[in-house]
Amino acid sequence: MTSQLITEGTTRLEVPELERFRTPAGDYAPSLTRVFYNPLMELCRDISVSVVQVLANELGALRICDPLAGVGARGLRYAREVKGISKVVVNDRSPDALEFIRRNVALNDLADLVEIRNEDANALLWSFKPKFHVVDLDPFGSPAPFVDAACSAIARGGVVMLTATDTAPLCGTHPKACLRRYGARSMRTEYCHELGVRILIGFCQRMGGKHELALTPLLAHSTMHYFRIYLRASAGAKRVDEVMAQQGYISHCFSCGRRTVTKGIAAELPSFCECGERLAHAGPLWLGRLVDKGFVERVAADLASRHFRLGGSALELLNRLAEEGEGPQTFYDVHELARRAGASPPKLARLLEGLKAKGYFASRTHFSPIGLRTDAPLDEVLSFLKEVSPSR
Ligand SMILES: C[S@@+](CC[C@H](N)C(=O)[O-])C[C@H]1O[C@@H](n2cnc3c(N)ncnc32)[C@H](O)[C@@H]1O
Ligand SMILES: [Zn+2]
Repeated sequence: MTSQLITEGTTRLEVPELERFRTPAGDYAPSLTRVFYNPLMELCRDISVSVVQVLANELGALRICDPLAGVGARGLRYAREVKGISKVVVNDRSPDALEFIRRNVALNDLADLVEIRNEDANALLWSFKPKFHVVDLDPFGSPAPFVDAACSAIARGGVVMLTATDTAPLCGTHPKACLRRYGARSMRTEYCHELGVRILIGFCQRMGGKHELALTPLLAHSTMHYFRIYLRASAGAKRVDEVMAQQGYISHCFSCGRRTVTKGIAAELPSFCECGERLAHAGPLWLGRLVDKGFVERVAADLASRHFRLGGSALELLNRLAEEGEGPQTFYDVHELARRAGASPPKLARLLEGLKAKGYFASRTHFSPIGLRTDAPLDEVLSFLKEVSPSR
């Protein structure tokens, strides 16, 4: 297999020749290469490096597992770029991937820190002792088949990190696939990516419950074609109960745009909106916070101290996550609101300012450049939008 050398952060990586599996659309197709490395995930890996550094500062001497490693980009970046790592297990079941991992360990002089494995990820996670402080699941498509084993392998206080690229099922384009994989109903709304992230978190939490582990989001984002979530694992039935109490459903009225939140997995859901139309439902899903603001701020501070190629974009994303993190569930699409109000869309900044001045929470959202997250009632948002619309 022809290869090339690249650098991410301060880690040098030998990867399969990128041109060979680049599609005309500019993305990279796993089906066109025997070993997959996706350069478009660099920003995601940059953020993960800073997340792992914040965890190392907090927990010290981290044991990390990268069970679906490909060329080893994630595990090797943690080993090389984070201070306070005691061991990184880098695993892939593909013998071709293993060759790349071996060469990349040598290239970065990491033999002392890295243990290379060539097993099925689930078998490795179920059997490995002692448990890991970080398990980073970065599969093709859905992480669902690996979450149970990741829960079995995570130490108390540790963090399960995962990527999902099966956003179409999670966002309501393939609702049956969502039901099969995640046991939840997805829904195609303007905030469907947020619903997808919440469904994914809810699924992991229900899996964690079996292990008496409460999984609480530290950070979650939807970027390009993928979702990325970081879940803190704490032990104890009471904590799990508290997490479960924050699962439930989001009901949407496709006629007037109102949303209703119902807590509880076995909850009784309202059938009708206050406008009289039928409601559609998504869930069960996580209704709590998507980020821990203090944690995100620590990650941003670490990231700002590094010189990543995409550092500016990563910081912008982290700042937006911190800003919207304490807002309510779901957001409005300003163009959709303007259409409902029969007005032209005003500047988002003007809406934010005005709603905040009225005492409401109001922020942008990283999920959409024209998204408005607010706890103001829809009627009030619409009448204020009319007031400030440029067409008046
Ligand atoms: C998306 S790629 C990993 C990309 C890598 N984490 C990165 O950042 O470049 C998924 C990898 O998982 C491996 N894989 C898939 N199923 C596996 C399994 N059950 N056990 C171990 N490895 C597996 C594949 O060989 C592939 O290399
Ligand atoms: Zn309605």
